[in-house]
Amino acid sequence: MKNKYLASEVNTSQGNYRVIVGKSILNLLGRELEYAGIEKKKCFIIADKSMFPKKVKLLHETMESFGYRTNTFSLELNEENKNYNSVSKIYDWLSTMKAERKDFIVSFGGGVAGDIIGFAASSYLRGIPYIQVPTTLAAMTDAAIGGKTAYNLDAGKNLIGSFNQPKLVFEDLDFLNTLPIREKNSGWAEAIKHALISDEKLFEEFENNKKVIINLDTEYAAEILKKSVRIKAQVVSKDEFERGQDRIKLNYGHTIGHAIEKVTKFKKYLHGEAVSIGMMVSIYISLNLGLVNIDSVKRQKNILNSYGLPTNDKNLNAEELIEAIRMDKKNVDGNVQWILLRNIGEAIIEGNVSSEIVKSSISKIIG
Ligand SMILES: NC(=O)c1ccc[n+]([C@@H]2O[C@H](COP(=O)([O-])OP(=O)(O)OC[C@H]3O[C@@H](n4cnc5c(N)ncnc54)[C@H](O)[C@@H]3O)[C@@H](O)[C@H]2O)c1
Ligand SMILES: [Zn+2]
Repeated sequence: MKNKYLASEVNTSQGNYRVIVGKSILNLLGRELEYAGIEKKKCFIIADKSMFPKKVKLLHETMESFGYRTNTFSLELNEENKNYNSVSKIYDWLSTMKAERKDFIVSFGGGVAGDIIGFAASSYLRGIPYIQVPTTLAAMTDAAIGGKTAYNLDAGKNLIGSFNQPKLVFEDLDFLNTLPIREKNSGWAEAIKHALISDEKLFEEFENNKKVIINLDTEYAAEILKKSVRIKAQVVSKDEFERGQDRIKLNYGHTIGHAIEKVTKFKKYLHGEAVSIGMMVSIYISLNLGLVNIDSVKRQKNILNSYGLPTNDKNLNAEELIEAIRMDKKNVDGNVQWILLRNIGEAIIEGNVSSEIVKSSISKIIG
């Protein structure tokens, strides 16, 4: 079925699904659900509290208008309560509502909502189908696509989870109109990251048309978002379980980004902001290794700054960051797999970077 808002189809072992991206497209949700093979049975919307009451009501009424008997549950979902307690509230509600395996769940919120609700959907009754309706830019560009679900333990983030692919990812930019600017900018970090690792032309569009893109209220902005989303969708299709080299490249800037989040106790920076500084360290490493020239470094710095993102922090401590990197769960046999740029638009993986180069690259974002 043709849909000009189709960003990509994601191909996975659990089935294929579409990612739809556009502005004011809620009226198209019904036929996308039909296309996804979701029968007109009961629908359980589980929504981030920030969507309550207006947007929840709108989605609820829209689902009813398509002929789905709809029930809605809102709960406060953020990083602090991305835990089993929230998952268990969802289980309790679904059981009270007598949800069955032939019904389906709508996850309506940011990345935390998607991760938690996706996990609940994978485990309740051994699995109920679900769709993602993301409401943050970070979730639209990244978290909602790919089927990784998770919640946190005291011991660390995302330690419990599953691969549970949604039946549909439906992204309407209208839902972003209440998103705080910092959250939006944090989402831009991931969207720009996609261009940096695999699409120089898209990077140029981000550079040249910032004014139109950043407000996210034009068809053109939706087109740009669509291109960025397509990159994530294609990587997932190639490397569903993160076994090969492709999906790892999405971690550009994340080794340092995670370290920054950790040493600042997840308080100072939003994820995308920390990744933004992390990407600067990665490109300085690339520069140190002679992979890119100084012009690329400047272009990356300029673009991140112009989308409201930080690129340095003189209060960070290099030793603390290096210690935090050592603890990263993504290390392979204690070795950091660095994602570096060979060019703007082309990432490579490098397992062999000396600690001197790492240190001197970190010093560039602290100095
Ligand atoms: N599954 C994956 O592949 C994947 C990838 C990246 C990140 N993640 C996860 O995503 C989470 C981060 O997601 P996020 O950045 O969307 O954060 P989030 O879900 O915490 O949302 C950020 C804040 O914005 C609020 N909010 C959401 N939509 C809003 C809107 N439209 N208007 C106003 N407020 C709104 C939320 O209530 C929250 O307070 C992390 O837990 C991370 O681990 C998962
Ligand atoms: Zn990220």
